[in-house]
Amino acid sequence: MSDKAILEYQGKKYEFPVTEGTEGELGINIKTLRSEAGMITLDRGYKNTGSCESAITFLNGEEGILRYRGYAIEDLAEKADFLEVAYLLIFGELPNKQQLDKFYGDIKEESEVDEEMKKILDGFPKAAHPMGVLASLTSALTAFNPGSVDVESEEDMYKAIVKILGKFPVLVAWTQRKKNSLPLNYGDDSLGYVENLHKMMFEKPGKKYNVDKSVIEALDKLLILHADHEQNCSASTVRMVGSSHAGLFASISAGISALWGPLHGGANQAVIEMLEGIKADGGDTHKFMQKAKDKEDPFRLMGFGHRVYKNFDPRAKIIKKSADEVLEGLGVEDPVLDIAKGLEKEALEDDYFVKRKLYPNVDFYSGIIYRALGIPVEMFTVMFALGRLPGWIAQWREMRLKKEPIGRPRQIYVGANLREFKEVSER
Ligand code: CMC
Repeated sequence: MSDKAILEYQGKKYEFPVTEGTEGELGINIKTLRSEAGMITLDRGYKNTGSCESAITFLNGEEGILRYRGYAIEDLAEKADFLEVAYLLIFGELPNKQQLDKFYGDIKEESEVDEEMKKILDGFPKAAHPMGVLASLTSALTAFNPGSVDVESEEDMYKAIVKILGKFPVLVAWTQRKKNSLPLNYGDDSLGYVENLHKMMFEKPGKKYNVDKSVIEALDKLLILHADHEQNCSASTVRMVGSSHAGLFASISAGISALWGPLHGGANQAVIEMLEGIKADGGDTHKFMQKAKDKEDPFRLMGFGHRVYKNFDPRAKIIKKSADEVLEGLGVEDPVLDIAKGLEKEALEDDYFVKRKLYPNVDFYSGIIYRALGIPVEMFTVMFALGRLPGWIAQWREMRLKKEPIGRPRQIYVGANLREFKEVSER
């Protein structure tokens, strides 16, 4: 195989090196295209543009493969816990018992949030969307931790990582407690990372906190499934913001904002709202399938389609099975689960969806599980953010350690040519 790609334009040939990844993926390195040929590549939405070489997550959309650091998502979801997966994503290897204990111990040490942060939270209206509140609070962390991270120092880098992993669940819990008019609290060091988060979110004053083990296990699995997804919109945002050497908290806060949109993480809330809408309308799935296919109608089947997966989303497969198990285990009956299954069945047999390779994505069934676990609908995307936190950290760390240059795409200008300025009176 040639290790060069040749581009011919107006009778002249240009050669570019080809980079091959460990899974055989090929990329043409066009670094010299502009200097040699005076051209740039144009790729709206970066649909076919690689922004980096990364060793964190491997995704093959044609075959429905997702691996973190070489481990299959199916294995991790079944056998690992969220904190182990976080360590794996960030540092590259599964931790041994000692490493894991130290990691969690250090995170717990950093789980206090400055009391002044409560005043900021207080300033938000109760109706504010939790994602907006979470992004703002995460950004505010920079004010209380002003020192910049010396990325050359392993210790400094580690400290920043355990800090955000320690404080983030507290912010998540406070966001939810504010919404529900509950007093702000702190966690319990004797509990695991996910159970502690759950306790902080749901503990009621004067009542003994109790939770079914299966709830924590289901939540843990959902967080693992959301933990990273290579160069998606929010991870790319985190990398882009971080590439200007903005700090970790600022970069993560930008990632949260990117995740919020309904085409990305906000889809999990949008799916439940869509399913509820279909139910309220009489449950005619066919009618909504027609709407989704109608190009004049802005309605899209939320939870369907993916930029990269063109066969099936392996996370959706695991989540669908999990939805059945969790609902049965908790004795919850949710009529929208049947509507979701009906929509999926119809879509899988429909020409429009088959031709465009549109399959259920991770968000199609996740909301049904979150709801069965007692998580309010407006908190769904916040749960996604918590799950994605290790991925964002891993992407940011890799980008900084590799000394990636500042992210700065080019454009093709299509605006007005030079014009003569006219004074207001002459316009
Ligand atoms: N319902 C109806 N038609 C769709 C849908 C959908 N959900 N998704 C894509 N299409 C059509 C689209 O109209 C286009 O048709 P045509 O070729 O005739 O113009 C074609 O399929 C390709 O779609 P696209 O918008 O060009 O694809 P994309 O890669 O730019 O967008 C997507 C991917 C996920 C944004 C899109 O499929 C979508 O909007 N899905 C619904 C929102 C959703 O569930 N988002 C969560 C993604 S998974 C969680 C995460 O990682 O963020």
